[in-house]
Amino acid sequence: MIIKPRTRGFICLTSHPEGTLQNIKNQIDYVKSKGKIKNGPKKVLVIGASTGFGIASRITAAFGSDAATIGVFFEKPAAEGKPGTAGWYNSAAFEKEAHASGLYAKSINGDAFSDEIKKQTIDLIKKDLGQIDLVVYSLASPRRTHPKTGVNYASVLKPIGQPFTNKTVDFHTGVVSDITINPVDNDEDIQNTIAVMGGEDWKFWMEDLKEAGVLAEGVKTVAYSYIGPELTYPIYRNGTIGKAKDDLEATVTTINKLLKDLNGISYVSVNKALVTQSSSAIPVVPLYISLLYKVMKQKGIHEGCIEQMQRLFAESLYSGEKISLDEKGRIRIDDLEMREDVQKEVAALWEQATTQVKKYWQIQLLHHKEDIAFKSISKSKWEDQKLAGDTLKSVQRT
Ligand code: NAD
Ligand code: NA
Repeated sequence: MIIKPRTRGFICLTSHPEGTLQNIKNQIDYVKSKGKIKNGPKKVLVIGASTGFGIASRITAAFGSDAATIGVFFEKPAAEGKPGTAGWYNSAAFEKEAHASGLYAKSINGDAFSDEIKKQTIDLIKKDLGQIDLVVYSLASPRRTHPKTGVNYASVLKPIGQPFTNKTVDFHTGVVSDITINPVDNDEDIQNTIAVMGGEDWKFWMEDLKEAGVLAEGVKTVAYSYIGPELTYPIYRNGTIGKAKDDLEATVTTINKLLKDLNGISYVSVNKALVTQSSSAIPVVPLYISLLYKVMKQKGIHEGCIEQMQRLFAESLYSGEKISLDEKGRIRIDDLEMREDVQKEVAALWEQATTQVKKYWQIQLLHHKEDIAFKSISKSKWEDQKLAGDTLKSVQRT
């Protein structure tokens, strides 16, 4: 199955849920409040640009560094009375704000894994920007059609070796219960997951961009990874998805060789756990995230995607100083999440976690506009939920 690329322009802006526009505006205001990023990127391609870390990277480049941006994503516009996906509205809102500020911003909606979308993107760069100086790779997908073989790969989220039993939260009801996830019983599931979420597609993008001559001298590229605490190791870092992240991280060496004659460089940034469409799909992890948010907020060190990306650009990628890397060569902006005092308190809460968490979790859903609860939400529903959220918040305070 080949997914048909869709490149229709954005439709009627007035039909967008107000909440999405406000969320994008808030992110823009945050980036502006931090001041201009000196020597920041000027012409940027973001692959996976519509939600989570991708849209936050795009906003940071545009409003922190006046960058022209091209965003590639896979989203559905509204059709026949059905609302579009959250990422569609995010991107429409972003483009509206970017254009109002006189910034170049165009988007390509289609399958980023395909050769066709890579070609369309390259043509657009050639036509409008000439060359780009930053490529952000922020794709997260459960499946991939391989562009050379046509094989469909589906990723799995499973432990390797032994079954894993731990607590999980039902995202819709907020109920906490035990879950046992059986390990993969064949190497194929591991290989499939690597094929979807590993580094091959990032490498393909960089190869194609280089061959087309659209990468500027000194180009940078960054992809995102995750490590997390030991309690999620069996399902995340030591599980099938962790193998894919190992592969992504190893791709840095390959891409660095490719970019050497351009004086280009590639990085993996290990980001903090955040509620996004992709992280919500992993068992156990959402409960960990809700406890993590609670602890980090109490300590005044909570960050969302935008705070993370602004910090990555301003203090790491474009700080003008030598970028500090961990022993495996990775940028670490999960430093606050992994702080010993934070992890100790999360572990203690984990022991106590019962459906008591329910209320807290619901508040998270209502207050984190990036998350899937806000997918396709209508304005009136948004207001209802916001009201409910305020009520819950006051309950929690007492
Ligand atoms: P997300 O689901 O919010 O965003 C995924 C993006 O990929 C969207 O823009 C979507 O449209 C796009 N996409 C998916 N399939 C596509 C396709 N076939 N063609 C074109 N676009 C496609 O995900 P996220 O949480 O922002 O994750 C981005 C990266 O950050 C991933 O590598 C993820 O592992 C990593 N990361 C996430 C977390 C977390 O807790 N959320 C933490 C650390 C690192
Ligand atoms: Na993203």
